[in-house]
Amino acid sequence: MRILNASGCLDALAAPDVARQLDAFVTKTVTPLPREGNAPPRIAETAHGMLNAIGLANPGRESFLADHLPRLRELGVPLWVSVGGFCADDYAETCSALADLEAIELNLSCPNVDEAADSAAEIVAACRRATELPLYAKLSAAHTDVAEVARAVAAAGADGLSLINTLRALALDKRLRPALARGSGGLSGPSLKPIALHAVSVCHEATGLPIVGMGGIETGRDALEFAACGARDVALGTVLFADPGAPARVRSELAAECADAGVVKPEDTRTLSKSPETEAKVPA
Ligand SMILES: Cc1cc2nc3c(=O)[nH]c(=O)nc-3n(C[C@H](O)[C@H](O)[C@H](O)COP(=O)(O)O)c2cc1C
Repeated sequence: MRILNASGCLDALAAPDVARQLDAFVTKTVTPLPREGNAPPRIAETAHGMLNAIGLANPGRESFLADHLPRLRELGVPLWVSVGGFCADDYAETCSALADLEAIELNLSCPNVDEAADSAAEIVAACRRATELPLYAKLSAAHTDVAEVARAVAAAGADGLSLINTLRALALDKRLRPALARGSGGLSGPSLKPIALHAVSVCHEATGLPIVGMGGIETGRDALEFAACGARDVALGTVLFADPGAPARVRSELAAECADAGVVKPEDTRTLSKSPETEAKVPA
């Protein structure tokens, strides 16, 4: 099981030592044109996790390719580039400009922009025609049936899935006004974990594709639960803001959790989560 960062949760150029703890670094989502993102405040703490409405702030494709990407390569960590846009062509054009990466993650699920995107499968199909690099489709759990979306992107040529993005949510300040300037934002952190585990489990069942699981992972035990539900790899997001040492810590905790569970590799827990004994203990 590899440990990655969740897109947008680590600035590798500002914190190279954190990035070097990872098995691969995932960039913040890159869009064709530069974006300043939403007005501040765009991050708020809640009792249930972090709320953000960054709004895909990024330098845009040209500056990313000319300036950021060469500097990221110097870190010596395998790279994934997160690609965003507002129509299938936006995504495909960026994909065709990328090379020498471990993978591309297609952000099909940002809750903080107003523009409606083409369908997830349409975008994946356009990107599939544009690149031979492995394509991971990052989905939201806000669909009634996330497994159906997973099946559609698999049929369109996705090589893997990243699950899940933040979920749209609202927090109020003391004066009962939205804590974020934009109003609602995306909720991340521990409260996402049960939702993410469900998404990983049903999408694994539906597609069998490799999955990067994320959503509230803070410990080795959390990572092991994602493996038990079908994740091949995991990504750390919100936890990195509080604990920059999380990748190394989670990796060593994961090894200890595997030993406790009596498995050699995290993936070996998959049969445990499916055993009739376990199912019998879970109330309907
Ligand atoms: C401040 C912040 C910025 C984010 N930016 C992006 C982004 O640019 N692209 C993306 O696909 N996801 C983005 N995400 C979502 C994370 O990659 C991740 O899917 C989500 O936070 C769930 O994981 P976590 O609970 O471990 O944070 C962002 C999350 C946060 C908290």
